[in-house]
Amino acid sequence: MRVDSIQKVLAGYPNAQVSITPTPIYKLERLSSHLGHNVYIMREDLTGFALGGNKTRKLDYLIGDAINKNADTLVTTKASSFSRNAAAAGKVFGFDVHVLLVGEQAEQNSASQALFKQLETRLYYSAPAEEEALAEEVSKLVSELEKLGRVVYELHPGGSDSIGTLGYINAFDQIVQCSTNTGIHFNKIIHSTGSTATQAGLVLGHSISKYATAVVGMAASQKADVQRERVCKLARATADLLRVEFDQSLVVVDDGFVGPGYAIASEEGEQAAKLFATMEGVLLDSVYTGKAAAGLIEYAMNGMFADEENILFVHTGGNSDLFY
Ligand SMILES: Cc1ncc(COP(=O)(O)O)c(C=O)c1O
Repeated sequence: MRVDSIQKVLAGYPNAQVSITPTPIYKLERLSSHLGHNVYIMREDLTGFALGGNKTRKLDYLIGDAINKNADTLVTTKASSFSRNAAAAGKVFGFDVHVLLVGEQAEQNSASQALFKQLETRLYYSAPAEEEALAEEVSKLVSELEKLGRVVYELHPGGSDSIGTLGYINAFDQIVQCSTNTGIHFNKIIHSTGSTATQAGLVLGHSISKYATAVVGMAASQKADVQRERVCKLARATADLLRVEFDQSLVVVDDGFVGPGYAIASEEGEQAAKLFATMEGVLLDSVYTGKAAAGLIEYAMNGMFADEENILFVHTGGNSDLFY
């Protein structure tokens, strides 16, 4: 196992340290007894900046890159957890932040609006929902801002581009370091996968460090083959940037826990969230982490884990429900 190789690979990329890391990793004792398996948790919901969650890890490197490129303005889209965290990080690091929102002002979630207001974010309403049309609107805004002399750094939806992915390569290094320090080896790593940088970063960290494990992404919306290809595409692009090898057989996606659809609560997800809350005081959300936890619980119940295995659940953030 090459424990220091991830830091060598990341060394040339500025990290603005938006996140407060390392995040806690510990055993869920009561849940483990209940399930008859060793279940650990990595509290990526506690990344400590604004609302926390997995997006701040991506912003560590995205803000670092924006500063490095002398940008003064950030542009991103949608009222997502990423854009809310980006609004906070942008403001703190001295950027003007512009966000294009899909839908009219009256249709927006009020908690999300209040947060953007608090952070003095410049909002544009009624942007098109369709990806290509939205990208065109972004290009238009970027050129208008550039004409005004601004140096614009564009943040991709969910922070899922090659630079954002570095955040989860770094997070994987934290897992490796934790194993080195405690002697606990994590045989399986389970997390929610959506815009893909979390999984792309974890599998690249896995690939670079040669730490023996299996990373399983529980899909939040897509069919497994579609999501797998999206993760592979981003991981490949990031591997090319870093000039490291990437083995696409490491990308495993399970779409069995999406339930009725994206951002629609599933019964299994609700039960999983209840179990985590009542046994451990760990709050999950119904869009991402509840569904990922439902997958973990079903794997535990159905003999998908060996008795001696240690399972690590990456808790990517628990407050999405407040913003839908
Ligand atoms: C709480 C939470 N978990 C998981 C994810 C999925 O992570 P990624 O978009 O990097 O695949 C998201 C994405 O929005 C999220 O908000």
